[in-house]
Amino acid sequence: MSRPAGDPISQLTGMSGGFDIVDEALAESVRRGLDQVELMLHDAVQSDFGFATETSLHLVDAGGKRFRPLFALLAAQFGDPDAELVTKSAAIVEMVHLATLYHDDVMDEATMRRGATSANARWDNSVAILTGDFLFAQASRLAADLGTEAVRHLASTFEALVTGQMRETVGHGDEDAVEYYLKVIYEKTGSLIATAGRFGALFSGAADAHVRALERIGRILGTGFQISDDIIDIASPAAESGKTPGTDLREGVRTLPMLFALADPATDPRLRELLSRPLSADAEVAEALDLLRDSRGLVRARETLDGYADDARCELASLPDSPAREALSSLVDYVVARTR
Ligand code: IPE
Ligand code: IPE
Ligand code: MG
Ligand code: MG
Repeated sequence: MSRPAGDPISQLTGMSGGFDIVDEALAESVRRGLDQVELMLHDAVQSDFGFATETSLHLVDAGGKRFRPLFALLAAQFGDPDAELVTKSAAIVEMVHLATLYHDDVMDEATMRRGATSANARWDNSVAILTGDFLFAQASRLAADLGTEAVRHLASTFEALVTGQMRETVGHGDEDAVEYYLKVIYEKTGSLIATAGRFGALFSGAADAHVRALERIGRILGTGFQISDDIIDIASPAAESGKTPGTDLREGVRTLPMLFALADPATDPRLRELLSRPLSADAEVAEALDLLRDSRGLVRARETLDGYADDARCELASLPDSPAREALSSLVDYVVARTR
């Protein structure tokens, strides 16, 4: 997989708008890393059973932003980015992410992913679930090369991903809905992005304090990333997100803009009614999306996202001033800008 030198990173990752690497040497290093990650992803899904390779490549090749490997590769700049296990750890994190996407689309009954037909829709639920399992298996096989401690850490991350999705499914019960939501999104999304930062830094041989800082930045940025994803589900067209807007409404998952709208006494009673149940009629989904787009709840969710971005920037200040820190700052900007 060779790409012309000088390709903008945004072209490589599909992260159009808002993210850029100014320093050319850094951009080249990240491009090389991302190319290696692509090769590893393709190698890892090769199987004697060609159908498993085909169903896995379906979403590998559909694109995606490669946000997690990109973050890992930037974190690795605080040590030796060419160290042996850096790109492997970045590829493993992307494979775990990819596996969760196959499973998530079954749970959400989604029909579109990465701008393509989702695997559950193209084949069926069983194929999508088994492809996710196949990807987890291959990720685990590669993870053996990272050593026992990393495997243990990955297992805890995986546990958090699963409990986050389970918590979301069972609902907040007696707990405060917003606090519960924030715990869920840390678990289902922030935990893996934190691990991407940790692994990139750790396997580059970065100083312990920097490994910890990059893990914290990943945790904050990753939690913000899910808030921005939840805003996008309301505010962005499918042509931009590659997913069907309103999926959270259809699933009856109350995301932050909805929780804030429900907490606002000024919220339109019709929106309240629409948010009280999962929606199945297209017209109701469209109506709820229109009302949410104009709601104070969406404004407050954007403010919360801004707060996470500010916290991430504060954490960045503990890292040495460098082109990599500047690129991470641009990545923080991107997580906010992608919702506009
Ligand atoms: C989607 O993640 C699932 C979430 C955790 C929000 P991404 O938005 O990173 O999906 P891809 O990899 O670009 O398709
Ligand atoms: C699920 O959140 C995040 C995962 C861990 C896969 P969403 O259900 O919001 O993710 P998308 O919007 O389908 O990508
Ligand atoms: Mg989903
Ligand atoms: Mg979503």
